[in-house]
Amino acid sequence: MKTLIDKLERYRILDREEFLELLECPSDEDANYLFERARFVKHSVYGHDVYMRGLIEFTNYCKNDCYYCGIRKSNLKADRYRLTREQILECCAMGYELGFRTFVLQGGEDMHYNDKKITDIVRSIKKNHPDCAVTLSIGEKSYESYKAYFDAGADRYLLRHETANSEHYSKLHPKAMSLKNRKECLFNLKELGYEVGCGFMVGSPCQTNECIIDDLLFIKELDPHMVGIGPYIPHNETPFADKKAGTLELTLFLLGIIRLMLPNVLLPSTTALGTIHPEGRERGILSGANVVMPNLSPVDVRKKYMLYDNKICTGDEAAECRMCLQSRIENIGYKLVVSRGDYKI
Ligand code: SAM
Ligand code: FES
Repeated sequence: MKTLIDKLERYRILDREEFLELLECPSDEDANYLFERARFVKHSVYGHDVYMRGLIEFTNYCKNDCYYCGIRKSNLKADRYRLTREQILECCAMGYELGFRTFVLQGGEDMHYNDKKITDIVRSIKKNHPDCAVTLSIGEKSYESYKAYFDAGADRYLLRHETANSEHYSKLHPKAMSLKNRKECLFNLKELGYEVGCGFMVGSPCQTNECIIDDLLFIKELDPHMVGIGPYIPHNETPFADKKAGTLELTLFLLGIIRLMLPNVLLPSTTALGTIHPEGRERGILSGANVVMPNLSPVDVRKKYMLYDNKICTGDEAAECRMCLQSRIENIGYKLVVSRGDYKI
């Protein structure tokens, strides 16, 4: 197994059979060796810096109906909300005071926010905070819409591909959504000049090692600046309510693999990882991740952006989340930095 890990570090890719061997029952010793190599590679690019992004969950309305997601349109029990432009700007102002230099605007696919509204919001944030980066994560849009947001000043875009296996994709989503369109969006975003992030849920229902290998090979092909992976966690009001959550071990192992494949990638240690294990986010950093995304949304809407059950940090003020993460990160020998945290070429 160590030979395969060394080969991955050296060539940054393996073939299907080798990936399969790597994914099949790695021992603790193998996993620890992978994490050691992933940390070495990460330190050689980013040192011990951990970048933070302020996450603003500005709407939980969604026109889509992904079977796994708590804010899917068929969840009639979801208490829907939208933030106004002013509320979003207040979140950014508070975040700026706390040292955030990247704001991530995330939401369901909510048609209320047309291109004019989104570009207005992006322009206002960039005007108030010219030294900050704006990341959008608002789903699948046309090339023209992505171009309009980019021209308004958006720097980055997160769009998890969810799974690169089309059969698996059709088990996670209704017919109206297609992997082909999702991939096309990612390539369009890249062409437009965004820093782009793809990603997937670990342990999503019906996911096999073959699906994961498809994900890894797609990530290699897209060559994104960011990769967002976190465990799938069930939500009680979805068709997948009784499915099992993804594991900490596999998520960490995949973070390590992705770091070796893309040494410069920006790799978040996600809230979902912190939800399935009390030290999940620290363990993520120690496995190769280098980004955290604390929540800047107003506390009164936090519990409403419930993608999965028992999501952590839904009751804490942004300042508390930031301080909590800072001490967690310092405790494991890293430093939370005040910086836009751009991709290093
Ligand atoms: N609507 C935008 C989009 O589709 O990219 C952004 C919001 S969407 C809710 C953000 C991400 O949450 C999805 O890409 C998905 O991977 C993740 N997610 C949704 N439901 C989840 C669940 N039950 N467990 C873990 N992650 C989940
Ligand atoms: Fe909103 Fe999947 S339910 S994008």
